[in-house]
Amino acid sequence: MLNLEQLAVDYNQQEPTDIIRLALEKFSTTAISFSGAEDVVLIDMAIRIDPEISVFCLDTGRLHSETYKFIEQVRQHYKIVIDVLSPDSAAVQKMVKEKGLFSFYQDGHHECCGIRKVLPLKRKLATLTAWITGQRKDQSPDTRATIPVLEQDSVFSSTAHRLIKFNPLANWSSAKVWEYIRQNDVPYNPLHARGYRSIGCEPCTRVIIPNQHEREGRWWWEEATQKECGLHAPTPQAGADNVLR
Ligand code: ADX
Ligand code: SF4
Repeated sequence: MLNLEQLAVDYNQQEPTDIIRLALEKFSTTAISFSGAEDVVLIDMAIRIDPEISVFCLDTGRLHSETYKFIEQVRQHYKIVIDVLSPDSAAVQKMVKEKGLFSFYQDGHHECCGIRKVLPLKRKLATLTAWITGQRKDQSPDTRATIPVLEQDSVFSSTAHRLIKFNPLANWSSAKVWEYIRQNDVPYNPLHARGYRSIGCEPCTRVIIPNQHEREGRWWWEEATQKECGLHAPTPQAGADNVLR
């Protein structure tokens, strides 16, 4: 069995491309989790290693129209299949019927994120041995400062299913990502040119002003330490239900 801790140390200073190559070579079922934002660089890097890479998006039903168009642009540009995952319609309808379309402004985003993002992700991850995300340390001093380049997924692994999570961009700054995008003519979401730094769902994302941190544009009505939706950290509401069984 692979010694993950040692691998994480060995690869900590490696380039994202080398980390992606490791993921694709060592794990038979690996997919990139693409949000429709600047994590498009993962696809650009991975396609040079394997033109048949697997990519999925969590379609919450609440993304910006620009993001939907961008996902389609990426699909055509790279000639890849993108698995666009929908949430369970009955669960969405029940929540919306009981609480309306904007309940997250009243009682927090975790319930809605749980239904629209975390449960579809959980179903997808049950089919994989590894996934690749665009998380970076510099995205959040509150919640992401210590993420490793690879780890056993602490949220979605179980005794029956060991899932490895790769964060190839963990040590890259936002500036480095944008340098890569410019140098390699990578297509990007037009929302970035309109002042959006971190892009999630339309009702829960806003433009930031100078000197604000990028996560301040996400779920801005909540505490900084609450700004994880359950994809990358266990959430109170989702709790043990996050775990693959
Ligand atoms: S979030 O948890 O706050 O929404 P963030 O927007 O910072 O996450 O994105 C970090 C990484 O999580 C992305 O690079 C991507 O790998 C994954 N991710 C986030 N949102 C989605 C999505 N809608 N579909 C697929 N992957 C996503
Ligand atoms: Fe719902 Fe907002 Fe979470 Fe999107 S980010 S799933 S709209 S709470």
